[in-house]
Amino acid sequence: MSKKDLPYLLAKKERHEPIVMLTCYDYPTAQIEEEAGVDIIFVGDSVGTNMLGYAAETEVTMEDMLHHLKAVRRGIQEAYLLVDMPHGSYETPEMAVENAERLRQYGPSGVKLEGGSEQAPVVRALVAAGFEVCGHMGFTPQTMGTKGRVQGRSLEEGKSLIASALALEEAGLSMLVLELVSEPISRLITQRLRIPTIGIGSGLPCDGQVLVITDVLGISPIERKLFKRYEQLRARSLQAVNSYREEVVQGIFPTEANTFNRISPEEADALAEWMDQGMPAEAV
Ligand code: KIV
Repeated sequence: MSKKDLPYLLAKKERHEPIVMLTCYDYPTAQIEEEAGVDIIFVGDSVGTNMLGYAAETEVTMEDMLHHLKAVRRGIQEAYLLVDMPHGSYETPEMAVENAERLRQYGPSGVKLEGGSEQAPVVRALVAAGFEVCGHMGFTPQTMGTKGRVQGRSLEEGKSLIASALALEEAGLSMLVLELVSEPISRLITQRLRIPTIGIGSGLPCDGQVLVITDVLGISPIERKLFKRYEQLRARSLQAVNSYREEVVQGIFPTEANTFNRISPEEADALAEWMDQGMPAEAV
């Protein structure tokens, strides 16, 4: 299997084959996503609320992103590795390039940033510096807070989203995440752009879909219309931890099977006798 690079993703759009993208924050999950054949493994800034206990994406730092990118990188061979630029890391084109260079040391395939046409100069600078850039439009948590609201509810909002998508593509964008965008608008954007669109809560017309891994696995306690749970890991993990605690409390764990006994019974007896004698130094 060859690398899932940008030409591979563009070819998928061309063939109308859905692109599969999923967030990932650690090494074992990266291995699972890679084995499952996920196309784009994405170290999102949602690491903050889902893994680090932050109240909002705005608390996520460059150090957080570098730490998690480094771990995920080790679990990936073929997938496209995308990483978020955190809040405040791309205020100017120069700052964006400087911070993207820090991410580059861990070999991401592309960097992602939020915003509309106002980000065109930043996208241009990153592309000129050799980065593939993914945009993120519609609901953008870095500037709109944690409470998701559907974007594109009127003709005016629709025009603004479409104009921004085209401006960013013109600036050199490689792909575009559409979060909580009204389906007719995500359809129009997807039809018009040459680059792939990846939807979250933006319907089937997008070229691909992205979800947050903790939502997919049922680790997050929150339910939302925009995602589907494929597991109930929170409930199952709680059950497992409760069983472990119960077995330790009751002296059921560890059993013989979990116990190491490499000293002969004679030597063990001799040790006990030595301790009974007050552990005399000359006997050692
Ligand atoms: O960080 C993230 O999880 C995201 C997704 C919502 C696409 O940006």
